Amino acid sequence: MTEAKATEQREIAIEALLAEDRTFPPPPEFAAQADIQSNEIYERAAADLEGFWAEEAAKLEWFTPWETVLEWKPPYAKWFLGGELNVSVNCLDRHVAAGKGDKVAYYWEGEPGDRAAITYAELLTEVQKCANALKELGVGRGDRVAIYMPMILELPIAMLACTRIGAPHTVVFGGFSAESLADRINDSQAKLVITADGGYRRGKPSPLKPNVDAALSLSTTVERVLVARRTGEPVAMVNGRDVWWDEIVPGQDARCEPERMQSEDMLFLLYTSGTTAKPKGILHTTGGYLTGVATTHRSIFDIKDEDVFWCAADLGWVTGHSYILYGPLTNGTTGVMYEGTPDYPDPSRWWDIVERYQVTILYTAPTAIRAHMKWGPHHAARHDLSSLRLLGTVGEPINPEAWIWYQQQIGGGRCPIVDTWWQTETGMALLTPLPGITTTKPGSATKPFPGVDADIFDNDGNAVPLGEGGYLVLKKPWPAMLRGIYNDPERYERTYWSRFPGVYFPGDGARRDADGDYWLMGRVDDVMNVSGHRLSTTEIESALVSDDRVAEAAVVGRPDDLTGEAIFAFVIAKSGIETSPALGEELRQHCAAKIGPIARPKTVMFTPDLPKTRSGKIMRRLLRDIATGRELGDTTTLADAGVVEQIRDASRAGKDDE
Ligand code: PRX
Repeated sequence: MTEAKATEQREIAIEALLAEDRTFPPPPEFAAQADIQSNEIYERAAADLEGFWAEEAAKLEWFTPWETVLEWKPPYAKWFLGGELNVSVNCLDRHVAAGKGDKVAYYWEGEPGDRAAITYAELLTEVQKCANALKELGVGRGDRVAIYMPMILELPIAMLACTRIGAPHTVVFGGFSAESLADRINDSQAKLVITADGGYRRGKPSPLKPNVDAALSLSTTVERVLVARRTGEPVAMVNGRDVWWDEIVPGQDARCEPERMQSEDMLFLLYTSGTTAKPKGILHTTGGYLTGVATTHRSIFDIKDEDVFWCAADLGWVTGHSYILYGPLTNGTTGVMYEGTPDYPDPSRWWDIVERYQVTILYTAPTAIRAHMKWGPHHAARHDLSSLRLLGTVGEPINPEAWIWYQQQIGGGRCPIVDTWWQTETGMALLTPLPGITTTKPGSATKPFPGVDADIFDNDGNAVPLGEGGYLVLKKPWPAMLRGIYNDPERYERTYWSRFPGVYFPGDGARRDADGDYWLMGRVDDVMNVSGHRLSTTEIESALVSDDRVAEAAVVGRPDDLTGEAIFAFVIAKSGIETSPALGEELRQHCAAKIGPIARPKTVMFTPDLPKTRSGKIMRRLLRDIATGRELGDTTTLADAGVVEQIRDASRAGKDDE
């Protein structure tokens, strides 16, 4: 397919989305009770950005008030300078002090069906004990702690314990491989790892500790390992290094003085994929981050004291950090945590949970909604979902069909939907409806949050008129924005601030309609979004070529009805290597083992050639078109003659692709 044809196809897709003209004003009953009732909040924040955020920050508990709201020396922002606070105090102590100690912080459900509820007072006690254990294990203020755990209550306890003593955490999603874990431990120079024997996944115990052992054979900074017991499966413990949680935490003093942290002290690192093989350590700090996530959580989800808020993400991703842990706890909200997969033991599990805990707000990813659509509405229909009053989505563009299904089948037609656009880097949601005042449209993230100055630029950095598309940009700082890439200021400046100098470029394409509503169009760089998770094409390519039978590999994202995008790998085998479905399968497994199961290509296509420009750049656009034009399942396949010809013709023409 020619470049012009590909562009035309993309434009048709955009037109299809823009032809979506259904609008949903806030249901009157919802609007009547919403905390934010007037558009005046947008004007107020735009007129006085610092005043707006200072008012929000003042809702937190500070040991020492700040002196300067914002110091903005592009591309570096500092918020609430001079202020001192502790995140765990804001999440726990002050609610207990206000008499809310008996309020449930989390209803927790394990995959096998075991259940627990932990109150704010209990959580505070556990956090302080864990914090004291961390100290006993040699962790001090400023030391990095890597956390690699299933969705059990020890996970938020561990994260909050780190904040108590001022030790930044870096949580690594439990689905990542030993090697990915080792990369993150090494880059962050973590001193301690907190893990568990394993967790439950699809009805079976899934071990974690062996991955930690393998990772630590590749790392030198870690001194101690704290291991929570979850599955009871046998685990090798290294003498003098590894210690069981239940042998060191319960006996600790239940009081641990909170560290007085500077507003700009590092709160956590969270690694995410960029356009190279090396993940980036996104650095978040304390005062601004907490202000940003608490404010957005409260306003976007219209949080009331009696809400039961379920963000069905994993704490290993930023969505979990901001909207399972820090936002909701700062607001004293009751949350739900579920350990396992949505279809265990059957696809009604989520709806069972909603009914049992009377969940009022559900926040999830479009991929999950599409999976539920596939399983059929009868699973939800068997349960009483009338407690739900608001729904949210995050992580990837939502197709209007899934939006409508969610609104009808799950929300019973009465719940507004907030489609929130944001990133690991932004820390908090930035484009989103406010459910009491925004008219929503299926597939649109609608408007920038109050105080967020977004725009859409053309190639030359000019704002495009309403109705046109281009690059999404953010023109003013916001409190929860990243403060850098850990130990790599040059990459920070190049990745986010060089495309349009002085302006933050997130890497997303977007379009604004005649009403000024934003429609996200996907990434414009070599980053894929598979089931709402970010994956770098280069990272998977380097995993593939690390197999010594592979000469070259090129990876692209291919549209997928369920996961948004699916990984499609073109592979050239070394000469003398026989290509076969079995080899393709081995390579798919190899990616899963190197990076994690989420990085397993859906399709591997062996080809004798890859299309390159004269300067040697792989023509990804052509590869995307080839991948898209084929009817394929989970498979390995040999490129047919037509494909090879297309590749050869393109290479001969050698036109620049991107
Ligand atoms: O491309 C955008 C997409 O997910 C990317 C951020 O991924 P990550 O850092 O893993 O964080 C995901 C959860 C916040 C963005 O650059 N994305 C996220 N939310 C949306 C979205 N695309 C369209 N609509 C959204 N609501």
